[in-house]
Amino acid sequence: MEKILVTSALTYANGPLHIGHVAGSYLNADIFVRYCKLKGKDVIYIGGTDDYGTPISIKAEEEGIEPRIIAERYNKSMKKDLDGLNIQLDNFSGTSRPEHIKISQDFFTNLLEAGYLTKKTLNQFYDEKHKRFLADRYVEGICPHCKSEGARGDQCDNCGKLIDSINLIDPKSKLSGEKPVIKETTHWYINLPKFENQLREWFQTKKYWKDNVLNFIMSWLNEGLIERAITRDLDWGVPIPLENTEGKVLYVWFDAPIGYISSTMEWAEKQGKPDLWKEYWLNPETKLIHFLGKDNIPFHTIIWPAMLSKQKEPFILPYDVPANEFLNLEGQKMSTSKNWTVWVKDYLKYFDSEYLRYYLAANAPETKDSDFYWKDFQNKINNDLNNVLGNLANRAFIFARKYFDGKIEEELELSEPSQVALKVCKNTLSDVENSFNTYQVRKAVKSIIDVARWGNRYFDETQPWKEIKMNKRKANETLYICAELLSAISIALYPILPDKMLKLRKMLNLSKIFNWKNIWDLQRRFTIGKVEPLFSKIEDAEIEKQLELLKATQNEEKKKMEHKPEITFEDFEKLEMRIVKILEAENIPKSKKLLKLKVDIGGEERSVIAGISESYEPEELIGKKVAMLINLKARKVMGVESQAMILAAEDDGNFSVLVPHKNVKEGSEIS
Ligand code: 2FM
Ligand code: ZN
Repeated sequence: MEKILVTSALTYANGPLHIGHVAGSYLNADIFVRYCKLKGKDVIYIGGTDDYGTPISIKAEEEGIEPRIIAERYNKSMKKDLDGLNIQLDNFSGTSRPEHIKISQDFFTNLLEAGYLTKKTLNQFYDEKHKRFLADRYVEGICPHCKSEGARGDQCDNCGKLIDSINLIDPKSKLSGEKPVIKETTHWYINLPKFENQLREWFQTKKYWKDNVLNFIMSWLNEGLIERAITRDLDWGVPIPLENTEGKVLYVWFDAPIGYISSTMEWAEKQGKPDLWKEYWLNPETKLIHFLGKDNIPFHTIIWPAMLSKQKEPFILPYDVPANEFLNLEGQKMSTSKNWTVWVKDYLKYFDSEYLRYYLAANAPETKDSDFYWKDFQNKINNDLNNVLGNLANRAFIFARKYFDGKIEEELELSEPSQVALKVCKNTLSDVENSFNTYQVRKAVKSIIDVARWGNRYFDETQPWKEIKMNKRKANETLYICAELLSAISIALYPILPDKMLKLRKMLNLSKIFNWKNIWDLQRRFTIGKVEPLFSKIEDAEIEKQLELLKATQNEEKKKMEHKPEITFEDFEKLEMRIVKILEAENIPKSKKLLKLKVDIGGEERSVIAGISESYEPEELIGKKVAMLINLKARKVMGVESQAMILAAEDDGNFSVLVPHKNVKEGSEIS
């Protein structure tokens, strides 16, 4: 029997889950899996955290703890947030678990033995101070492709291209902030050119892949495949299974996708059937579907299939790789380092989890980047869910309870408008099936809400509130049709809003167990249970609060200290700082910020220009003893020579000069 193995890209365990992860690879996978389950398919959904690699070790260094602790911390927190969003993986593992190491090493050994790995000596950046090679994210600089600043040694966030760190322009070590030197080291490379023909042939069979994925692959192939290093000089990672390779590990992108297999093995183990994973991974009838964000495309479509194809066991290759584009936030690129994102744990403090599922599904970045706007979130929830779907359920159910004691009878003789309503809705919902099959969730959402929209229009036109007085049977007919539509919607929308649709089914008194193929089995009669609103509106104030919070994080970010590179004591000793007495102070005409001072540095007078006139009136300063840097090279400012520099603390543009705590004579040295 056909099996389906769905994966979500393994998220780096260096921070909590955010809406970019959800929109990129989790929600789309969860929706697809739920849809497959409704269709009665044999499907499992596998994922976990990507624990190795420089994102995690850098975070660990920042906190001064072991990378393993970081990986465990974020693995747990991500799992909790996924649960909070009702994203139900069959197994959520992590690549630092022991089972993962052996199979990753086997992958390496098999490729080596099959002749697809080459050992090479090459130049790498090296931090002299820390005595370490600077793998991937340990070095930053200007992107050699798009020339944007802040590109990391593995990939440029701006243009999305992979980078060989040695090509970074103006490189700086993340460890010391200094320019690294170049030093020789040895690494193993996967010979991708050797796979080119086989890959090209394979892509011929993948014409059904999404355009964005095929375009990406073609541009990679056209640029020409090159050998790529699959090992690194790092402590944190899967050790290379060869003698004399201390301090070297597998590149995180080599072992990460193997995590899909080790997570499936863990799942099988938990089922008490340790070999069950083979029925998926070694079964040509399994459809392997990887959900991921666009930056992960080359790894999953080129390197990963190449790796899988040279193993001793006959692993299946990906059947489909439905990659999403990126989600922006309020019109700007999302960035976790700049805290420009919405963390799932924060979202869940304020709103219903399914509202996020709905908004991200309706606004999924399927074919192009999309935007998360808080205002749009509010509009979609208030309009689509409250005013359209919630309203249909509410008005029909309340009416049924009020006039029919909740009992809606089947109508055999349907009026023309009722027949049209049923037909239009049937047609619309058959499109939904096609949309789900092709991962077009946005389109599916739109069609389903259109059905509810039709329902409301039909309710308005048939006017049951009038009919109830004249022809009760007619009023029942309206309710009957609305109940049928809502019953179909409760199945179609279940993959997106599982809890809400179960609640809807409960009000309709329908079974908790249901199947896609019953979507148009007409129910004949309904008994409406206790009516509760399905949704509630989001108030303006709630959205304003989120926008405020977002703004506040940015102010905090700005306030975050940026440290300068370390200096030695000898460097410090070069500074001559003394307490000086201000003898004269006056404004400089035409200058808003500058004051001209005359100071006594201890028997010697100097003239000094200070940019503090917005914080001090000249008179306040005369006679004060303040700290000053004396041996700064003299320079002319607005035509006046400045022969020293006043030391002042700045708080949001407000300056405060530094004065000695006790009275000391002018000229006293500061050390
Ligand atoms: O880009 C990322 O976040 C990677 N951690 C994705 C890895 S996907 C897979 F290969 F594990
Ligand atoms: Zn770039």
